Order: sequence, then structure tokens, then C-alpha cells
Amino acid sequence: MTKYVINGANELNGEIEISGAKNAAVAIIPAALMVDGVCRIENLPDISDVKTLLNILKEMGARIKSVNKRTIDIDCSRVGTSHATFDMMRRIRASYYLIGALLSRFGRADVAMPGGCNFGGVRPIDQHIKGFTAMGANVHVRNGIVTAVTDEALSGTTIYLDVVSVGATINLMLGATLAKGMTVIENAAREPHIVDLANFLNSMGADVRGAGTSEIKVRGVRRLGGGFYSIIPDQIEAGTYMAAVAATGGRVIIKDIIPKHLDCISVKLREMGVTVVDLGDAIMVERKGPLTRTHVKTMPYPGFPTDMQPQISTVLCLADGTSIVTDSVWEDRFKYVDELAKMGSSIRVDGRTALIEGIPYFTGAPIKATDLRAGAALVIAGLAAKGRTVIENVHYIERGYEKMISKLNSLGADIKVAHYGREDSIFRRRIG
Ligand code: EPZ
Repeated sequence: MTKYVINGANELNGEIEISGAKNAAVAIIPAALMVDGVCRIENLPDISDVKTLLNILKEMGARIKSVNKRTIDIDCSRVGTSHATFDMMRRIRASYYLIGALLSRFGRADVAMPGGCNFGGVRPIDQHIKGFTAMGANVHVRNGIVTAVTDEALSGTTIYLDVVSVGATINLMLGATLAKGMTVIENAAREPHIVDLANFLNSMGADVRGAGTSEIKVRGVRRLGGGFYSIIPDQIEAGTYMAAVAATGGRVIIKDIIPKHLDCISVKLREMGVTVVDLGDAIMVERKGPLTRTHVKTMPYPGFPTDMQPQISTVLCLADGTSIVTDSVWEDRFKYVDELAKMGSSIRVDGRTALIEGIPYFTGAPIKATDLRAGAALVIAGLAAKGRTVIENVHYIERGYEKMISKLNSLGADIKVAHYGREDSIFRRRIG
């Protein structure tokens, strides 16, 4: 068990590189289960959610070879089971993608209800179930286990999603890839990682069209063969560092990104008085003067991402005046507000909306991450704060950010990683 010790109030300056997108990687790895042959996947982020998924596949009989730090070869030709350890599946949300991939390949899937960050109650999968049922599967959920079975291959049909769901869109694309006939997913999500999954599947021989629009058409093919694929850069990782520079001040060039994916974030930061310059495959973020208040409402892509809501709200705590942030995607994504309050913030939450009164500065305090992006937001608060902030539960952060501490320290942050149950002064280490 680890915690981060941040000595705050240092400006961030310099250059950093962005890793491969977590939410693309966790869709593409299960997709590899449907490929008959070796897929080489490049630009894979080194994060715990990816490790967990790879372990699940290994346990099912996949052969996984590491080619270099960011590249692996996956060969699932010998996988002969639709079953993996439920305990491992429960650790991550993306395990639900095994339903689509296994149903497509074996006509059967036994998958533990997904875990992942808790944004209020059980995160529903009714749209996934509705889609697979329409394609001819029998789906039951008993004692936290989803069992989906189909006598023959899934059959293509038209599915209208009642809510724009990233997970259901991806899962149904997976199910449709080896199905009989054409599947049309209407009211589909349009996130960059959905386009990335479609590109991966097409490069392995699938026929997926329209990804990135609200209507995706998948014509089922008989088999997928091996190939190479490189995962897109992580939109949210890049956005998190943009927010960090906005909070601390300084000038950072964020490299290896697709600036278009960041438009929704860049626009808000500019409204707040931050300079954001598109450099083609990089972006320059600079904050010198005071921050201006603004209002933010999260929406499915290309709207402002819910996965950036805690980070932007944290920056808005330091803006002059009152800002309003509404999360229209998740019901209860403001749990981190109690932790920010320990650092002096003034935020009032009413349902899905937060009213943020600007404060001159955060004050360092002992706090706890409540989920992945909340954890990232607390790191941002700690970086901007006067004094020392100690963050517990950092395993959440490590689920989705590759080498966050070394990246931030390379920009001038002062973050040490300490271990529970031991004398901090002895076991603390500074990662450079
Ligand atoms: C994905 O979760 C991401 N996770 C989340 O990122 C992200 O917050 C979310 O999309 C929204 O962008 C992964 O990609 C692994 P949804 P997902 O299905 O697919 C409702 C992060 O921090 N809904 O798009 O689970 C649901 O309750 C994480 O990286 C239904 O009602 O989200 C929510 O209100 C956390 N029925 C909304 O739709 C369903 O069957 C969007 O959920 C499915 C969803």
C-alpha cells in the first residue's frame, strides 16, 4: 500500500509524453480474444487495469509475449474456454467487454459483474443486455455473474441505445464482429476510443463503419486474422496534465497527442484565461495570470468529458468568482469534494451540480482518493497547495495513469512515494 506525499506550490515547466489510451486499451485487449492469429499491440499503457486484463486472458490460455516496454504480441488461437476467474474480473469495469468478445467467439460468456469506479449505486449494463438479447442471446444475471448463451452465432439486427453508453457501444461492436449479417447500433457513443476499437477490428479483418458517428454499422465476418495495431494517445491523461498546469501555473508542452481530441478541454481552459496552443501532434499549455470562473457541463463526446470533471472542478476552485459544474453523465461523481474541503475549498453539491466558490489557494492536508479521476484531481490540488499533502488510496490512480509521479516530477513537482506501515523518513523515495 502506497501514498503520495506532495510538497506543493511549485510551477510546472517542461515537456512530457502521453501514453496510450486506457479506455481504448481495455477494449482492444478483449477484442484480441476474437482474433485467430497473433496481434501485435503497440503503445499499450503500463497501468494496472491493462495488467489485470492481460492476466485474465493469460488464465484463459492466451499466449502473451512482451516485445518491448509498450508492445505485446497476443495470440488467443488456443483459448478454449469462455470462463475466467471471477475475482480478477470484478476488479475492473472493462471486464464486461469479455461478454461481447466471448459470445462472438464461443457463443457463450460467463463474466462476473464488473467492478471499477463507483459513481453511485450499481453501474447498470441493461443496454448491453438489451443489445445481446436482440441479437439472439439468452442473458441472465445471477449472484453477480452474467451468463450469456446463444445456440448459433449472434444475428445482426438494429439496436437503438436508450442512453449514449460507451460500454454498450463497444460491447455490441464486439458481439457484432463475428455475428451473422449486419448489426446497426443507433444512438451510439462517439468517443475517440470507439473509433480506435473500430480501426483495430478493421485492421484484423472486420467490417465496421461509421464509428465516431451516432450510427455504427457492423457487417459480421467469418474470422479475424492477426496484424499490428498502435493505440491512440490518452485524451484524459493529456487533459489531466493540462489541468495541472492551469492549477500550478507554468508552461508545459504535452507531446504525442491528438489535439482535436482535446478541443473540449482546451476551450474551457482558454475561457479560464489559460493559453493553449495546438502544435500539431503536441499542445502547449501556459498559465501566468489569475484564473477566471466558468461553467462546465459534462456530456458524451464531443462534449466535455465526465472523466475530466473532478480535475477541472479542482482548477475552478482557484478561479476568481463562482463556477457551476454539472455532471450529466454520472449520478454521483462528486465524492472527492469532501477531500478538497479538507484543503480549504468551498464547494456546495446539489445532486449532479456543484457550486464552486473560488479560493486564493489550497492548503496541504491528509486526504484520500475515492476513485481514479478523483485521485488525479487530488494530486492537482496537492501540486497547487501551500504546504504538504498526503494522498492515500493511490492504487486508484495507478489503475489509469502510467508513471504519473515521475512525469510530474520531471516538470518540477515535488512528489514522493511512501509505503504504509513503515517509517516514512526511511522508506520514502523520490521518483525522478
Ligand atoms: C466508460 O464507462 C468509461 N470506462 C468511463 O471512464 C467513463 O466515465 C464513461 O465511459 C463515460 O464516458 C471505460 O471505458 C472502461 P457508459 P462506461 O456506459 O462504459 C448509463 C474513467 O475514469 N448506462 O458510457 O461504464 C450509466 O449509468 C472511467 O476512465 C445505463 O444506464 O460508461 C451512465 O450514466 C470511469 N445503462 C451513462 O449511461 C447501461 O447499460 C454512461 O455510461 C450502460 C450505461
